[in-house]
This record gives sequence, C-alpha cells and structure tokens, in this order.
Amino acid sequence: MVQDFLLSAYPWVKALHVASLIAWMAGIFYLPRLFVYHAERATAGSELEDTFKVMERRLLKGIMVPAMIATWAFGLALAFTPGVIDWGLIWPWVKATAVIAMTGVHFWLGSTQKKFAGGLNRRAGRTYRIVNEVPTVLMLVIVFMVIVKPF
Ligand code: HEM
Repeated sequence: MVQDFLLSAYPWVKALHVASLIAWMAGIFYLPRLFVYHAERATAGSELEDTFKVMERRLLKGIMVPAMIATWAFGLALAFTPGVIDWGLIWPWVKATAVIAMTGVHFWLGSTQKKFAGGLNRRAGRTYRIVNEVPTVLMLVIVFMVIVKPF
C-alpha cells in the first residue's frame, strides 16, 4: 500500500528532493562566506555586525534548517521506494557517508552561528575560507555517486 504510493509518487518525490537540496546547498555554501566577512570586516558592536548576525540567523533558521529536513525526508522516501536502491552496491554507502558528513557540516555551521550571535567567535576569516572547501568536496562525491553510480 505505502509501497504502491511511493512508486507512483517517485518522480515527484525526486523532484522535491532535488529542489530541497538546492536550497540546502545554497545555504551550506553561503553561510561560511558570511562568516568570512563577519570575522574580517565587522568590528564588535557595529551596525555592520548586527546586519551580519541577522543575515546569518535568517539564512540558518529560515532556509537551511527547513531545507535540510525536507532533503532528508524526501531522500528517505526515495530510499524506501521499492527497486530504487540496491544496498548490495557500494555507491549508496559512499553517498550515505558523505550525506552524514554534510549533515555534520550543517550542525557545525549552526553552532558557529550561535558563537557569532553571542560575540564569541575567535576564529580568523581564513579558517572559514578553508572550511568552505569541505562541503564542495562532499557535494561532488554525492552527485558522482548518485548519478554516475560508478561501483
Ligand atoms: C539527506 C539525506 C539524503 C538521502 C536519504 C538521499 C537519498 C536519495 C535517494 C534514495 C535518491 C534516489 C536515487 C535514484 O533514483 O537512483 C536520491 C537522488 C538524488 N540525490 Fe539524494 N539523498 C540525500 C541527500 C542528498 C544531497 C545532500 C544531495 C546533493 C548534494 C543529493 C543529491 C541527489 C541527486 C542529484 C539525486 C537525483 C539523482 C537522479 O536524478 O537519478 N542527495 N537521493
């Protein structure tokens, strides 16, 4: 019954999964950029700093958190659709590992947002430039796995 529904909804669920992950990835890539400029250019207590704090909070709470939940929900629905995933292959495990790491990046960015909001960031802008590379690599791994399915 549920399986019949998942089968008939499959292309719609996949479209919603891709739409959600676009929004999630947009935030994952942009929030560390905001941290770079916040750390390098905004002096404590300035009006510019307040603006960065508002932008960071809204990006995280308004876009990234709902988009992450939607990506997971639609992704799990796809994973439970009969015939979509062969867990005997390697690519689904590599994708799952990279997705869990991406979720870890999300929560790390969330805890960093709290630090910035409380004026407690002690890291240099350069650190956030480097951190930015991690989700880029994870995104490439995920997309190659799910589209090329190389092994
Ligand atoms: C959050 C947990 C996630 C789960 C449980 C999940 C699961 C899935 C499943 C089961 C499929 C269907 C695969 C198929 O039809 O062969 C799929 C499709 C897809 N996923 Fe995810 N996914 C997740 C996150 C992500 C993320 C973060 C990205 C990209 C950064 C991503 C990119 C894609 C793409 C591009 C497709 C479409 C592939 C196609 O057109 O066949 N997924 N996902």
